[in-house]
Amino acid sequence: MKNIVIVGGSKGIGSAILLQQLETNIVYNISRNAPAITHPNLKHFAVDVLQDSLPDIESVDTLIYCPGSINLKPIASLSIDDFRNDFEINVIGAVKTIQKYLPVLKKGTDPSIILFSTVAAKLGMPFHASIATAKAGVEGLVKSLGAELASVVRINAIAPTITETSLSANILRNDRMKENMVERHPMKGYLKPEEVANMVNFLISENAKSISGQVFEMDYGIVTFKI
Ligand SMILES: NC(=O)c1ccc[n+]([C@@H]2O[C@H](COP(=O)([O-])OP(=O)(O)OC[C@H]3O[C@@H](n4cnc5c(N)ncnc54)[C@H](OP(=O)(O)O)[C@@H]3O)[C@@H](O)[C@H]2O)c1
Repeated sequence: MKNIVIVGGSKGIGSAILLQQLETNIVYNISRNAPAITHPNLKHFAVDVLQDSLPDIESVDTLIYCPGSINLKPIASLSIDDFRNDFEINVIGAVKTIQKYLPVLKKGTDPSIILFSTVAAKLGMPFHASIATAKAGVEGLVKSLGAELASVVRINAIAPTITETSLSANILRNDRMKENMVERHPMKGYLKPEEVANMVNFLISENAKSISGQVFEMDYGIVTFKI
């Protein structure tokens, strides 16, 4: 049984990860709102990762940081504060969490960290200037810490395409928008949070012990293929 800390397990991708890991592991969830379920293996801390101190947790094997943003505007409409806020929640929150739990993580079993990027860090997409900049920071963090923490702690990121969560609800708000989104992807689809949770499950497992410092596109072909 692993001790897994999830920042952002109350909804979205983090919630799918939490539900999947709960049956066989102890899960410590950190978010402002509680997850919808209670479970003997789940402990929730009501914490705003940017405002509050993070709770002390004695034993941590896996750290998963989910908070992020989708803030799509033309550059002329993006304020400097938009850039700062996106950098804060995507990068600084992750750095704060890693710094807090690294000492205990280093003593864990096959310790690893998962962060989230986006396809827009690799594929130039209009109106993504702020989020692409912040997620490029996440990818840099993964590369640098992968080297710094080898051979003790593994760190990887997943860069999903659009995933059906509350964060993307506005982009998938009706059937026509959903159909357009399916058509935009060469592999004709977009992600469900459970698909991302399955990838996390692999990356935090012993089976991925050779893998660190990597960013995995889960992209239904949108970055990888031009058909
Ligand atoms: N959904 C997509 O289409 C998509 C695409 C590409 C990349 N991503 C990336 O994938 C990751 C997960 O996305 P998602 O769609 O699952 O997001 P989501 O549905 O908005 O969930 C985010 C989670 O983070 C928590 N959170 C947010 N701000 C927080 C704060 N200040 N303190 C503590 N917890 C906080 C939220 O909980 P509370 O609100 O309860 O605090 C929630 O549990 C993000 O990094 C996102 O950028 C998502």
